[in-house]
Amino acid sequence: MVPRAKLVAANWKMNGSQPDNSRWLQAFRAAPPRCEAVVCPPFVYLQQVAAGLAGTAAGVGGQDVSDRALGAWTGEVAAEMLLDCGAAWVILGHSERRASFGHSDAIVAAKVERAVAAGLRPILCIGETLHQREQGLTMAVVAAQIDAVLQRVPAARLAGGAIAYEPVWAIGTGRTATPAEAQEVHAAIRGRIAAHDAPAAAATRLLYGGSVKPANAAELFSQPDIDGGLIGGASLVAADFLAICAAAAH
Ligand code: PGA
Repeated sequence: MVPRAKLVAANWKMNGSQPDNSRWLQAFRAAPPRCEAVVCPPFVYLQQVAAGLAGTAAGVGGQDVSDRALGAWTGEVAAEMLLDCGAAWVILGHSERRASFGHSDAIVAAKVERAVAAGLRPILCIGETLHQREQGLTMAVVAAQIDAVLQRVPAARLAGGAIAYEPVWAIGTGRTATPAEAQEVHAAIRGRIAAHDAPAAAATRLLYGGSVKPANAAELFSQPDIDGGLIGGASLVAADFLAICAAAAH
């Protein structure tokens, strides 16, 4: 099997300003990482980030995309627009959007379908809440989140993107899943995809997200089914993001 190249994605969430982004991009360009990297700023900064990363191997991604076709949908941003602004990737189904903006499994599936149809590479986020974990529902929750998407999009079409396992209780809390806990769920996710399409499962990068930082990245990334990370808070500091990328480049 061809080893899966590690992928590290920065999820800036609703952070940034033109001057701050500019400083971040300058630091990134001064020491570009050796692993594959993607930077996902708010929509309004996509072009600035795309221009700032030009000449590096890093990609650019959005943090969401509309499930609608171009037209009269006030406030929405279409997949074609992301591509037009230099994005090749898009984060979909992030738990903050699922929990606070009503993105159900069905809506997330529709967004993934729309994104891949337009040629974007999705980073599909899945993960259980603390309550669900305590109830022993982790595997059932992530399986349902995956199945909802695979009902609409063949696994082979997801393989060009990535799936990010982000336990909700680990996001922004400083509480990381242990490498063993994360590996266990990653292996189950790969198994679930393999039930649909084994070669696609072997090729799909599974990222871990949730309080990844320079100090814990290497151990997480050394797990057999952890193919990189989706980095929130630590991605806002260029040096920390680059240190996490360096942990993936080993
Ligand atoms: P965090 O966020 O690294 O700040 O925990 C990860 C994410 O939400 O993608």
